[in-house]
Amino acid sequence: MYAKTPLLVAATLVLPFASALPLEDSTKPACRYLPVDAGWPSPRQWSAFNQSISGRLIVGKPLAESCHGDSFAASTCAPIREQYNLTDPYFPDPVNVMSPLFLRDSCSPYTDPSAPCTLGNLASYAVNVSRAEDVKAAVKFVKEKNIRLTIKNTGHDYLGRSTGKGSLALWTHNLKEISFTNYTSPQYTGPAIKIGAGVQAFEAYGAAYERGFRLTGGYCPTVGLAGGWVSGGGTGALASLYGLGADNTLEFEVVTTEGKQLVTSPTKNSDLFWALNGGGGGTYAVVISQTIKLHADGPVAGAELSFSNTGDDKAYWAAVEAWQKQLLVFDTIRGLNTFWGFTDKLFELYFSTLPDAEEAAIAAAFSPFIDTLKKLGVKYTYRTTSNPTYYEHFAQYTPGLPYGEYTTNNLLGGRLISRSAVRDNLPKLMAAFRNITTKNPTHPFRVNGIANNVTHARVGNTPSSNSVLPQWRDSLYWLNMDVYFDLDGPISVVDNLQKELNVNQDMLKALTPGGGSYVNEATYDNPAWKVDYWGANYAKLLAVKQKYDPSFSLYGPASVGSDHWKSDAEGRLCKA
Ligand SMILES: Cc1cc2nc3c(=O)[nH]c(=O)nc-3n(C[C@H](O)[C@H](O)[C@H](O)COP(=O)(O)OP(=O)(O)OC[C@H]3O[C@@H](n4cnc5c(N)ncnc54)[C@H](O)[C@@H]3O)c2cc1C
Ligand SMILES: *[C@@H]1O[C@H](CO)[C@@H](O)[C@H](O)[C@H]1NC(C)=O
Ligand SMILES: *[C@@H]1O[C@H](CO)[C@@H](O)[C@H](O)[C@H]1NC(C)=O
Ligand SMILES: *[C@@H]1O[C@H](CO)[C@@H](O)[C@H](O)[C@H]1NC(C)=O
Ligand SMILES: *[C@@H]1O[C@H](CO)[C@@H](O)[C@H](O)[C@H]1NC(C)=O
Ligand SMILES: *[C@@H]1O[C@H](CO)[C@@H](O)[C@H](O)[C@H]1NC(C)=O
Ligand SMILES: *[C@@H]1O[C@H](CO)[C@@H](O)[C@H](O)[C@H]1NC(C)=O
Repeated sequence: MYAKTPLLVAATLVLPFASALPLEDSTKPACRYLPVDAGWPSPRQWSAFNQSISGRLIVGKPLAESCHGDSFAASTCAPIREQYNLTDPYFPDPVNVMSPLFLRDSCSPYTDPSAPCTLGNLASYAVNVSRAEDVKAAVKFVKEKNIRLTIKNTGHDYLGRSTGKGSLALWTHNLKEISFTNYTSPQYTGPAIKIGAGVQAFEAYGAAYERGFRLTGGYCPTVGLAGGWVSGGGTGALASLYGLGADNTLEFEVVTTEGKQLVTSPTKNSDLFWALNGGGGGTYAVVISQTIKLHADGPVAGAELSFSNTGDDKAYWAAVEAWQKQLLVFDTIRGLNTFWGFTDKLFELYFSTLPDAEEAAIAAAFSPFIDTLKKLGVKYTYRTTSNPTYYEHFAQYTPGLPYGEYTTNNLLGGRLISRSAVRDNLPKLMAAFRNITTKNPTHPFRVNGIANNVTHARVGNTPSSNSVLPQWRDSLYWLNMDVYFDLDGPISVVDNLQKELNVNQDMLKALTPGGGSYVNEATYDNPAWKVDYWGANYAKLLAVKQKYDPSFSLYGPASVGSDHWKSDAEGRLCKA
C-alpha cells in the first residue's frame, strides 16, 4: 500500500544536511493524493469547500457513464456514441477532454454495458469558475489538501495538459464575458476586445464582426482563444497579416497559485505577460480574461484548390513539390495565408486567405501555380472567392458553424518547416513526405501545412515582445501530421500509431536541424520537448514559473517545469 504520510520524521533528521532543498519539499508528501489514498479529503471537507465557492463544485463524470453498469440508459448513451468523435460534447463538459490517447478506454461508449467505466485520466472534481475568487479558493484548497490541480477550458489539448487523474479542475468554460474598449497604452492605441477565459473563437469572431472588426484566432471555431491557443502561440488564417495570437495580446488578468490577482501587460508584471504569450498553457497562472487587438474589417479574398493522384505518381508528386516552391513566393505577399494538406492520393488547399484584397489579387497570386498544374497535366479543381468581411470568408470555408466539423478521432504531431529546408533541401523533404504518407496503408498519415509569414518585420514587434518559439519566425509553414482511426477499436491501435507518429516527427526533425515544433499540435511524449517546444526561451520561462508558481502547482506534459514531477505506477503525480 502506498505511504500516505511519508518521511515526516526522517525529514527533520535529513534537513540539516540538505540545506539546498526548500523546506516545503521535505515536509510535504512526495505525491499528490488520489481518491484511493487515506489523505484524500473527506466528503465533509469537500462539502465545506463547495460551500466556500457558493456551491460551484461539480463531481467529474465520464461522458459515456450512461453506457455502463447501473447508470446505463440507452437513450442517453446513443447520442454520446454518435457524437464521441466530434468536439461538441467535450467543450461544454467540466472534465472530459478530446484526446483519445488520454481518454483511453477507461469509459468507452462502444464497449459492452458490463465493461468497466472509470474516470481514468479525468479530473475527480471541477470548479465551475465564475470569478477570480473561485480560483483563489481552489488554489488554496488544493495546496492545503495536497490535491493535483488542472485547468480545463475546451479540452482540445492533445498533450493531455487540460486533464489529470485525481485532480481538481478549474473549469473556465463559463467565463464568457465579452466587452469592447478603445485601448490606450505606450505600445498600442486602438480598438480592443476583452474576453473571458472561456470565450471560444466562434463567439469572439461573431461579436467582433457585428461591430465591424476582426481579430486573429484559430481555424477550429471551438478552440478557446485566451487559454491554450494564445499561450502556445496560436495560429490561424489572419496570422500572415496580424501575426500569431500571442502577437495580439494587450493584457491578461490572472490569478496565481499564490492567490494573487494580477494584471499583466508589457508594462505590468511584464515577465509574466511575456511568458503567457507563447510559453504554454496551464503553466504560470490562471488566466481570467484577455484583452486583444481588434482590426478594422473589410473585404477578404479566398481560394480553394484540390488535385488528385490519378495513377501518374510522378506528375502528382511533382505538383506537390511545385506547391512547396510556390509557398516561398506566397511568403512575400503581405497577408496571404494558406492551409492545406495531402495524402499520397489527394492534395487539398482547404482555404487560402488574402485580407483587404479583391478576388483578382488572389487569382493573380495563384495563376503561376495553376499554370504549373496545367503543364504537369494534373487534373485540378480550383475556385476563388470574395467576401465583404472576415467572418463571412471564414464561414465560407468552415462548414457546420458555429461549431464546425472537426473530429477528434485522430493524433497530431509535427514540425516547423524552415524556409531554408524548402529552399535548400526540398528533395529530402519530399522523400520524407512520400514515406510518411505511404508506409501505413491501413492508417494513412496526412501531412498538413499552415503557411504564413510571421517574421517580426511582418508582424511589427521584436524578439523580446513575447515567448513564441523564435524558430517560428524563420519558418515557412507549420507542418502537422494527423492520422485517423475508429474510436470503437482497441486502444493498442492508438498507442501504435502514436509510436509511428513520433518516428515521423523525428524524421522531419532530422531535416530541420536547430528547428522546433508548435507545442499545441505536437506530441506529448517527445523526449526532446524542452528544446523542440521551448528552445532558447526555456531557462527564462522556468524562472518566470518559479516566481509566480513557486509550488509548481500547475503541471502539464511537455510544459515548462514539468520535469519537477513524474507519474507513479498508479498515475499519482510525484516529485521527480
Ligand atoms: C480539432 C482541433 C483543431 C485545432 N485547431 C487549431 C488551430 O486552428 N490553430 C491553432 O493554433 N491550434 C489549433 N488547435 C490546437 C489548440 O490550439 C490547442 O489544443 C490548445 O491547447 C487549446 O486550448 P483550449 O484552451 O481551447 O483548450 P484546453 O485543452 O482546455 O486547454 C489547453 C491548455 O491551456 C491551459 N489553459 C486553458 N485555459 C486556461 C486558463 N484560463 N489559464 C491558464 N491556462 C489555461 C490548459 O491547462 C491546458 O494546458 C486545434 C486542436 C484541435 C484538437
Ligand atoms: C455543491 O453545492 C451545490 C449547491 O448546494 C450542489 O448542488 C452540488 O451538488 C454540490 N456539489 C458537490 C460536488 O457536492
Ligand atoms: C465519427 O463517428 C461517426 C459515427 O460514430 C462515423 O460515422 C464517422 O465516420 C466518424 N468520423 C470519422 C472522421 O471517423
Ligand atoms: C456553471 O455556472 C453557470 C453560471 O456561471 C451555470 O449557468 C451553469 O449551469 C453551471 N454549470 C454546471 C454544470 O453546474
Ligand atoms: C471608440 O472610439 C470611437 C471613435 O471615437 C467611438 O465611435 C466608439 O464608440 C468607441 N468605442 C468604445 C467601445 O468606447
Ligand atoms: C520509410 O523510411 C524508413 C526509415 O528510413 C524505412 O525503413 C521505410 O522502408 C520507408 N518506407 C517507405 C514506404 O518509404
Ligand atoms: C516576410 O514579410 C516581411 C514583411 O512583409 C518581408 O519583408 C519578408 O521578405 C517576408 N519574407 C521573409 C522570408 O521574411
